[in-house]
Amino acid sequence: MSVAVRFDDIRKDFGPVRVLHGVSFDLAPGRIYGLLGENGAGKSTLMKILAGYETASAGALFIDGHAQQFDGSRAAEAAGIVLIHQEFNLAEHLSIAQNIYLGHEKRRGWFVDDAAMRAGAEQFLAQVGLARDPDTKVRDLIVAEKQLVEIAKALSRRARLLIMDEPTATLTPAETGRLFALMTKLKADGVTLVYISHKLDEVERITDEVIVMRDGRFVARSETAGLARQQMANLMVGREVSDMFPDKLAVPADAPLALKVDGLSVPGWVDNLSFEVRAGEVLGFAGLVGAGRTEAFEALIGLRRRSAGRIELAGRAADLKNPRDAMRRGLTYLSEDRKGKGLHVNLNLQDNLTLMTLERYAHPLIDLKAARKTLLDALDEFGIRTGDPGSRARMLSGGNQQKLALAKFLQPNPNVIVLDEPTRGVDVGAKRDIYFLIHRLASQGRAVIVISSELIELIGLCHRVAVMRAGTLQTTLGLDHLTEEELIAHATGTH
Ligand SMILES: Nc1ncnc2c1ncn2[C@@H]1O[C@H](COP(=O)(O)OP(=O)(O)OP(=O)(O)O)[C@@H](O)[C@H]1O
Ligand SMILES: [Mg+2]
Repeated sequence: MSVAVRFDDIRKDFGPVRVLHGVSFDLAPGRIYGLLGENGAGKSTLMKILAGYETASAGALFIDGHAQQFDGSRAAEAAGIVLIHQEFNLAEHLSIAQNIYLGHEKRRGWFVDDAAMRAGAEQFLAQVGLARDPDTKVRDLIVAEKQLVEIAKALSRRARLLIMDEPTATLTPAETGRLFALMTKLKADGVTLVYISHKLDEVERITDEVIVMRDGRFVARSETAGLARQQMANLMVGREVSDMFPDKLAVPADAPLALKVDGLSVPGWVDNLSFEVRAGEVLGFAGLVGAGRTEAFEALIGLRRRSAGRIELAGRAADLKNPRDAMRRGLTYLSEDRKGKGLHVNLNLQDNLTLMTLERYAHPLIDLKAARKTLLDALDEFGIRTGDPGSRARMLSGGNQQKLALAKFLQPNPNVIVLDEPTRGVDVGAKRDIYFLIHRLASQGRAVIVISSELIELIGLCHRVAVMRAGTLQTTLGLDHLTEEELIAHATGTH
């Protein structure tokens, strides 16, 4: 029942830019493959071709030995090939059940059978472990929940070949564990799975074999067993990757307070949160999904209602009304939701970068030369890979969008920088670059706050880590207590 796939010299051009340079490899049925590669290597593009969302510019695709060219994702789905997108593909204004059955509505005679769809949806939600009413609108879900709906939707399509493009980027360890159990069961049923991820520990855990791409080419494949993570990283990047974290700099004893928050409360999310961060300090925020970290900072900059709380920036009271107001006072917040709140995906890279600081370029006409220079500098400094600097943000690969968002939020030259999941979806090499960038920002005397679900990253980067659980601050751990065990114990309340 499962599918064998062969890519034969697949090429893909977007206009003048070639992003796949003749990729050939095959996938045997009933296995779990890890597809690895740096940001922009072409993983998503190749899988979109397999799943009918893109067509190859040249080359052939064989399914079970037959040449195929799908003229759309429905044709691929009919052949049992389903892709779970890296960027969500859900209709926000529709319910969970409507999304799961979108385009495949269950009918009774002429009528859409809502009851049957609700019941079916419930069953798939149970499989992915999402305890939500199927009538809930997707726009009312948090990011991790949307990801689970994407997976439930794919399950409803009864795939024989299931491609997952970074499905766990937003999931908690427990949700990831449940997903892996599900993948193992699908494999036992004979389904072929392709798993794309930058989380190499997960690749090691769940895949049978890894396939590595670099710069639009196939470079290597290997059984997962016996392949060390370090080797995976080296294959992806094409060189030795070492020393992920720079040495921490001591925060000067007399460093002034950059941000002080007293008794911040956000109805339904955060209760009486107080903390402070000094110039030159990197402060982490750990906690499980739903602990209230994102909501606390959204409220801080006026994206959500605060019911109480006093904020001081550089020693002066600041009642921040909205993100622009916060930016003017020297604080920027990079949202974890880069597509929704971080970037304007339909604008080009340059407009994205200069949007927050337009007045800098208007004298009164926009100084295009200066804006262009800002773009080229940012591409270079942040290692943003694009075949065409004039393209729209949506054309960038997932990880490169993340780097662009980071570049954009640093343009205003803030003194306090809040980064929410800054390395989500970025490859090992780029992760390292971001860690060194954070280090550099702190060494320039800025205060950096990092919200992250990757404990290794918090431990490697931060001087102190605040741990939240269920909307309250549990503890703040200093350098000598920063271990995974301590962080988990406080985050889960098992301390
Ligand atoms: N619609 C498009 N138009 C133009 N260029 C595109 C388009 N889609 C992708 N690209 C380019 O193709 C290249 C490969 O992108 P792709 O999304 O396949 O990378 P990826 O390996 O999935 O990376 P990531 O790990 O960041 O998700 C990138 O340089 C990207 O900018
Ligand atoms: Mg991708």
